[in-house]
Amino acid sequence: MKKEEEIVRLHQEAYDRVAPYFEENVVPLFRPLAERLIELARIQPGEQVLDIGTGTGLAALLAAPMVGKTGYVLGIDVSEGMLAIARRKAPHQHFPSVEFRQMDARALDLPSGSFDMVVSSFGLPFSHPAPVLEEVHRLLRNGGRLVFQEWGTPQEGDDQAGEAFRRVLEKYRLQKLTGWAGRFRRAREASWDIWESLEESDAIAKMVKEAGFSRVEVFEEQHPTFLPSAEAYWNLQNSWASIRSEVEALSERRRKAFKQEVLRALAPLVSKKGILLPWAVIRVRGFKA
Ligand SMILES: C[S@@+](CC[C@H](N)C(=O)[O-])C[C@H]1O[C@@H](n2cnc3c(N)ncnc32)[C@H](O)[C@@H]1O
Repeated sequence: MKKEEEIVRLHQEAYDRVAPYFEENVVPLFRPLAERLIELARIQPGEQVLDIGTGTGLAALLAAPMVGKTGYVLGIDVSEGMLAIARRKAPHQHFPSVEFRQMDARALDLPSGSFDMVVSSFGLPFSHPAPVLEEVHRLLRNGGRLVFQEWGTPQEGDDQAGEAFRRVLEKYRLQKLTGWAGRFRRAREASWDIWESLEESDAIAKMVKEAGFSRVEVFEEQHPTFLPSAEAYWNLQNSWASIRSEVEALSERRRKAFKQEVLRALAPLVSKKGILLPWAVIRVRGFKA
């Protein structure tokens, strides 16, 4: 299998496995971030909107009331597990203008020039960014817009909980990971450089321009987010495909010990507001001439 194909299949499997946890623990925290994204999209009634990497449908379902009855929203994702939840949240009789379909963002089986707007909330597969952005450009009609968000760089020194968690993870995670989890780890490690370079606004703007967008705007915002307890922090971490795959590979006994040590390490970091997640987000808006 080609390397790129393998990366997509690994993400598909990872999100299939993590879907219910992602919906329960990540989506409520992502909601305000997606609301901000949709605000920047300025979607109009009657527009045709595509949500790439829709997951459990967060951005698609925020866009739905904006396009109204005359518009259309299509959410696509490689993971059927994520899409099944999206479809449950949006039964056809209540959301007649919304559809969810399984598709790979690198090769969208959709006609050129058929969308007014493409949105994506942490859903563009950036282990291979250029072909995806070119596909998006092809799908947009002239005058169409792309709006997406990805992780930015948190303020220096803010991520104490993340550092504590990673220290304990480093101690417990298996050095040698076999099977699909091992392949998923290697695929993630192989794309670290790309992800890191994309935390820079200039690099991301350049890449979007190179895909053919005539005007590109980049917005960087801090979104400090709080979790009420160390237990909630543990549950959140276990809802990311990357962490869950490492944790599931441990024996029951090691997993319990790992969790106890994480809870102990986080206890001093629970302030009156809770545990800080120093989230920083880059949002990009591109226009097709
Ligand atoms: C971090 S989740 C974001 C989900 C959702 N947009 C949200 O904000 O809650 C990333 C999503 O991108 C999907 N994804 C990864 N690679 C993809 C690809 N090549 N094509 C389509 N979707 C992909 C994953 O299956 C996953 O559902």
